[in-house]
Amino acid sequence: MSTVVVTGRIPQPGVDLLRDAGHHVLAWDEPTPISRDELLRRVAGADVIVSLLTERIDAELLDAAGPQLRAVCNVAVGYNNIDVAACRERGVTATNTPGVLTDATADIAMALILMSTRRLAEGERLIRAREPWQWGMFMMLGSGIQGARLGIVGMGQIGVALARRARAFGMEIAYSNRKPCDTAVADELDASYLSMDELLATSDIVSLHCPYSPDTHHLISTPQLQAMKRSAYLINTARGPVVDEAALVAALEAGEIAGAGLDVFEKEPEVHAGLLDRDDVVLIPHLGSATIETRTAMATLAARNALGVLAGSGPVTPIS
Ligand code: DGY
Repeated sequence: MSTVVVTGRIPQPGVDLLRDAGHHVLAWDEPTPISRDELLRRVAGADVIVSLLTERIDAELLDAAGPQLRAVCNVAVGYNNIDVAACRERGVTATNTPGVLTDATADIAMALILMSTRRLAEGERLIRAREPWQWGMFMMLGSGIQGARLGIVGMGQIGVALARRARAFGMEIAYSNRKPCDTAVADELDASYLSMDELLATSDIVSLHCPYSPDTHHLISTPQLQAMKRSAYLINTARGPVVDEAALVAALEAGEIAGAGLDVFEKEPEVHAGLLDRDDVVLIPHLGSATIETRTAMATLAARNALGVLAGSGPVTPIS
């Protein structure tokens, strides 16, 4: 029997898979995130840590777990909370949950595109504020997306899934990525592979789907925002610190872009005060993968990764 420490609440099927395999599962079951001190105490003696993106898995934590630790299994596709090099140095396998949240996250990105361009959150706020209103030819006009160019930064699984949705809405697809995507996919989407500069200068909507790393820290800051069309919108469902939030507020203030739709924030759960009262931004609380089905699939995939490592057959989705 091995000990698996789960650092936060996850859907029960994930916990059941681990328990049914005979492991001792120590799951943090409180609605609030575990404190760092409590986490450092709890992981001592763990064979596997099943982690949430709210927990920092660094050298200190790995050492607190001890030399018997075999794997850290993140319940997220993004793994910027894990020091992968520190895991490697200690022979600890790190895993994430790609694939199972692709559709849910692409849905949220598409929703943010529609909410931003059609001013949906603003309209909802108007009604809830019990303001008098009357249909009018020029009331709350937005921008249509048919024929508009969607510039996707990071053409991985979620970028491609968003592109498919956007094509159904009549959008034109451009993308920027470390390398061109598969020819069959590019042909299917009729997608243009552009440099980041070209993409920023020509897109009507720029949507971020790259992983967060030191290389992508503030990938979108003042020069990039100034390079965008004044009529363009920025969508972020990747990780908050990919965008320099202070620069975004300044760009919105100066009318350098038309608006933004954000699911993630630089200092989550804090949101830059300059965004909170703006009607030209849509703000939602990191809901990309937040469906019952998706979160259950993430939890069970993380559990299968843990079981694979403990059984010696290897994880299903290791971080390469
Ligand atoms: C992820 O898996 O990285 C998402 O941000 C979780 O919603």
